Amino acid sequence: MTNHNQLTDSPEPYWRDSVQFEKYPKLKETSRAEVGIVGGGITGLTAAYLLAQENIKVILIDSGSILNGTTGHTTAKITAQHGLIYDELIQNFGEENAKLYYQAQIEAKQMIEGNISTHDIDCDYRNEDAYIYTNKNSYIRKLELEKKAYDQLGIEGELTTKIPLNIPFKKALKMKNQAMFHPLKYLRKLVDECVKMGVQIFEQTTATDVEYNKKPTIVTRDGARIICDYVVEASQFPFYDGQGFYPTRMYAERAYVIAVKSFLTYPGGIYINAESPTRSIRSTSLNGEDLWLIGGENHKTGQGKSTTKHYQALYDYANKYFNVSDYMYRWSAQDLTTLDKIPYIGSITKTQSNVFVATGFRKWGMTNGTIAAKVITDYILNRKNPYMELFTPSRFQINPSLKQFTAVNFDVAKHLIKGKLENTKDIQSIENLTPGNALVTRINGNRTGVFMDENHKVYMLDTTCTHLRCEVEWNSGDQTWDCPCHGSRFSYTGEVITGPATRPLDQTIIDDFKKEK
Ligand code: FES
Repeated sequence: MTNHNQLTDSPEPYWRDSVQFEKYPKLKETSRAEVGIVGGGITGLTAAYLLAQENIKVILIDSGSILNGTTGHTTAKITAQHGLIYDELIQNFGEENAKLYYQAQIEAKQMIEGNISTHDIDCDYRNEDAYIYTNKNSYIRKLELEKKAYDQLGIEGELTTKIPLNIPFKKALKMKNQAMFHPLKYLRKLVDECVKMGVQIFEQTTATDVEYNKKPTIVTRDGARIICDYVVEASQFPFYDGQGFYPTRMYAERAYVIAVKSFLTYPGGIYINAESPTRSIRSTSLNGEDLWLIGGENHKTGQGKSTTKHYQALYDYANKYFNVSDYMYRWSAQDLTTLDKIPYIGSITKTQSNVFVATGFRKWGMTNGTIAAKVITDYILNRKNPYMELFTPSRFQINPSLKQFTAVNFDVAKHLIKGKLENTKDIQSIENLTPGNALVTRINGNRTGVFMDENHKVYMLDTTCTHLRCEVEWNSGDQTWDCPCHGSRFSYTGEVITGPATRPLDQTIIDDFKKEK
C-alpha cells in the first residue's frame, strides 16, 4: 500500500494500488472475432461481458493495461445526480428525453447491483444519498430550478440546509439512494467472468484504424489485425473517426483527486458543489479506516497552468475542513464532454452501422459507461433499447449545440494558432533545466519539449501533437505532455497515453546531459 505524502511523488490512484490484475499479451497476428472491442475500461469490459453471455466471440484490446485509463482514475460514484443537468435537459430536449436520461442512469445502477449480487462481488458497494451544494447566492436559484425539474421527472429529491458533512454551504439538493463502490474490485470480477466465457484480452496493443474489406478490420500500430463483424470503440476519443468529425464535437477536461485519512469520521453521503472550482467528496474504506476522496479543480486538458497547484489546492481544502492526518494518494483523470452534454453512444456515423462509439460521459462514466455497454450490445443483437435515439451520435440539436460547436472550435483554433506563434519571451533556455522538470525551447528553429529525469537523462520531443498538429504543453503534476486541442496526452518519453493521437511524439534522447554540455 502506498503512502504518497509528498506532492512530488508520482500520482497513483488508490483503486490501482489495492487490486492486482493479470497481465495480458500483446496481439501479434491477424485474428477473427464477431466483435472487436477497443478499450479496456468500464464500457469495453461491460460490453465484452454482456456479449460473451450471448455466446458472441469477442476480442478486446487496450493500448496500455486494462482498467488503467479513466475507469482506473475515477471517483467511482454511481449516481444519476450529474451536477445540475435535469433543468437544462428539459429546456433543451423536453421532459421525455430528460426522463430517459435519468432512467438510463438508474438502469445502469441496477445493472451494477445485479452483477454484484449474481457474482457475490465484494467491492465496497454502499448506498448513499447524493448532494449538490452551493456557497453562492446566484446558484441557489439554479438549485431551486433543478429541484423543480426533479419534481417534474419524478426524481426523489429535497432542497435542504442540513447535510451530514461539516462544510460551509448555503443550500443543497439531495438525491436519495445513490451509491459508490471500488470500481476495480467490481471490474476485476467481470474480467474473470469474461475470460471464463472465452473473451480474448490483449494489452499494449494500439488500434490505429478501421479498414473496410468484406468486414470491418481493426488495424493495430504493429500491423496486427482483427477481422470482425462489429467494432466497438470504447477508447474515450474514437481512434477511428469515420468522418464523424468527433474532434469538433467534444472537448477534454482533466480533474484531480486526492485520498487522505482524517482525524474525523466520515459522516456518509456523496457530495459535489454546483460552482467552480469543483469540489467532489466521497469516502471509501482502507483497512477498516475511512479514506476521504476529494476531487475537483477541473480544467480543459493542456490548459491548466501548473497542474501541481491543483493537487495543492485540494490538499489545502481537505486540511482546512477535514483535519487531515495522512496524505495517501493523488491522481488525475480525463473525460470528454459533448456539445449538448449527452454522451455519443451508437454508430460512428449514420452510414457505418457496424462501427460503434461510446464517449462523452462528462465525468459520469460509471453509469454512462455501463448503459453504453448495454445499448451497444442491443444494437449488435438487433434488440430494441429505449435509449438508442437519445444517445445517437448523429443527432443534431440546433440549440444549444451550435453555440457550443462555435465555442469548442474557436478554442481549438486559438490554441493551434497560439502554439505556432509563441512569443520568444515564453521560450526558455535548456541550461535552466533541472532533474524532474521540463521546459519548452527551440532547437534548430523547432519548438521542442525537453524533460530531464533524475539521472540527468534528457528526452527531447517535437511538441507538435501527432493528431492534428496543435502544440502540447507540460503537465507538471502528472509529468506528461498534454494537448490543449482535443486532449491527447503523451508520456515524457513521447508515448501516447490518451488519444485521439495514435502515434508518439518524435523524440531524441541524450543519455547524460551533464557530460554532453
Ligand atoms: Fe487533436 Fe492534439 S489532440 S491536435
